Order: sequence, then C-alpha cells, then structure tokens
Amino acid sequence: MIEAKDLCKHYGSIIAVDHLSFTVGPGEVLGFLGPNGAGKSTTMKILTGFLAPTSGSATVYGHDIVDDSLAARRRIGYLPEGAPSYGEMTVDQFLTFVARARGIEAGHIIATVGSAIERLNLGTVVHQSIETLSKGFRRRVGLAQAILHDPDVLILDEPTDGLDPNQKYEVRRLIGAMASDKIIVISTHILEEVAAVCNRAMIISEGRLLADDTPSGLLARSRYHNAVTLVVENPHRAASVLSELPEVAKAELHGRELTVFPTGDGLFEAVSRAVSTHGWDVRELRLEAGRLNEVFREITGGAAAS
Ligand SMILES: Nc1ncnc2c1ncn2[C@@H]1O[C@H](COP(=O)(O)OP(=O)(O)O)[C@@H](O)[C@H]1O
Ligand SMILES: [Mg+2]
Repeated sequence: MIEAKDLCKHYGSIIAVDHLSFTVGPGEVLGFLGPNGAGKSTTMKILTGFLAPTSGSATVYGHDIVDDSLAARRRIGYLPEGAPSYGEMTVDQFLTFVARARGIEAGHIIATVGSAIERLNLGTVVHQSIETLSKGFRRRVGLAQAILHDPDVLILDEPTDGLDPNQKYEVRRLIGAMASDKIIVISTHILEEVAAVCNRAMIISEGRLLADDTPSGLLARSRYHNAVTLVVENPHRAASVLSELPEVAKAELHGRELTVFPTGDGLFEAVSRAVSTHGWDVRELRLEAGRLNEVFREITGGAAAS
C-alpha cells in the first residue's frame, strides 16, 4: 500500500503540492490527471524519495519515504518525466548497470535483464546505444529499467508523452498487462488515457486534489451523461419537437449536432420513437456516456487539458 498524508511541497513561494492525502492499493491503476504545473511530477518525486516533502508524510508498504527511504525505494519502479537514461550506453549495458545498482545478485543479472528485454520487446535493439533509439524505444527502455527488480509499485510520469498513437497503444497495453498485482500510479494530462488505462483517477490542480473517482464515476458527473446526441436533416425542427417530450429537459444545438438532456430514464427510447414517428433522416444517433473534458473543465475551473 501507498499512504500519503497531508503532503505539501513548496518551492520558495510556489506551492506545488498542497495537502494531498490518499491511499492506493494493489490492483489499482491510479491516474494523476491535471494540467501542466498541477503538481503531478512533484508528487511522484516525493513518493519515490527524490524530493522530501515540505510537510506531511508518505509510506510505501509501511516504509516511510523519508526515514526509511531505501526500503521504500526497493519496492518502487520509477519512470521519471521524459524517461532520462544514459544515452551513450547500449540498452544491454544500461539495463545491466541498473540491475547492479538495484542490488540484483550477479548470478541473476543476465536472466533479469533478459526477461525485461523480452517483456518490453527490446530484442532488436539490445546492442544499440540509447541515444540512437527512437522515442518509443527509449520510453520502453525507461519502462524496462522501472520493472527490472519486479517492484510492487510502479510510478510512471507521463509514460506515453510524446509517443505516436501506435506507441501510446503499446505502452498502455504493457501497463494493463502488469496491472493485476501491482500498484501503478501514472500521471497524464491526456483525458482519454485515464479512461484507457486507469481504474481510478485523481484530478489535481494547483497542487490540490479536486476529485478522486473511477473513470466511469467521473463520466457520470458530466451533464452529458445519458444525454442523446443526433445529427438529423432538419435539426431546428427536431429540437422543437423533442423539447416537448417529458423525457427531455433541454435541447441544445452545437454545429450540426443536436443534444437532448434527460429528465430521468428512457430518453434514448423516447428519441428513437420520435425519429421513427416523424420519419426523420438521421445520420447519427448516440447515447452519451459523458464527456471527460467537460467534467475536467468544470472541476478545475477551466484549466486547459487536451
Ligand atoms: N525545481 C523546481 N523549482 C521551482 N518550481 C518548481 C520546480 N519544479 C516544479 N516547480 C513548480 O511546481 C509546480 C508543479 O510542477 P510539476 O510538479 O512539475 O507539475 P506537473 O507535473 O503537474 O506539470 C509548477 O508551478 C512548477 O513550475
Ligand atoms: Mg509533470
């Protein structure tokens, strides 16, 4: 378990982390979601023992990250922001170096490095120097060093940042594959990532925790949750007809999309009935799960996110 209590971090007059408290357990993939400068990286640096908090405390499986830092860090794999490593080393040399630094016994180093290389699909580049690798491969090397000692806790700072869509997909898949028995904390400013990989999300802004929920719980907070959006031939007429239905609280037209908001249950059925009764030419008709970007904007008071 990770337990953070009342963590604060000040850089001079800047308050980067402002009284954060949370607990994370095995099987949880927790996303720190927040705009740039929210304090995500700083929180991760505190949890991994790279920075001491100004006040407050945190433990990793009972080990205090300040007083018992080495024991805490043994349980953690950490991918820092931008996945720095030693560019002039080959992948093999770098991972061997990390394995030694992690105190893995000499007789187990080759097997340990080999297994990380296999899990991260680095077989084709083991003898290549890291600086010559593509961004996607470099990120995978970063992930390989993080999982090398098979830690119980993985802390990954923007693991997919700067990757192309295929590479993002691959990294998310890897995180998903490791998720069942570990505590995984990732940071991201990408909303879709939270829905794609996390089973819990903490929205952080200006160092403060503004929401702690499941991705579907966040979606349920959206005013679009259970709304119905349609694209029809004559949206103005459809809007006025649909507005009269008892299931419809409100109709809004945005560009070519008409969205109707529910008063209660049965909205989708009611809209479908109206469509067939009036014989409207419908190009699209969908039930909305909710819109994360709108929830995010609402919660953070308009802070930007992609
Ligand atoms: N070493 C530092 N010195 C001074 N201010 C810093 C330092 N690192 C981060 N900050 C500030 O702390 C705040 C939080 O930064 P950070 O934790 O990197 O946010 P995030 O990872 O969410 O983008 C920002 O205002 C940032 O400018
Ligand atoms: Mg950051």
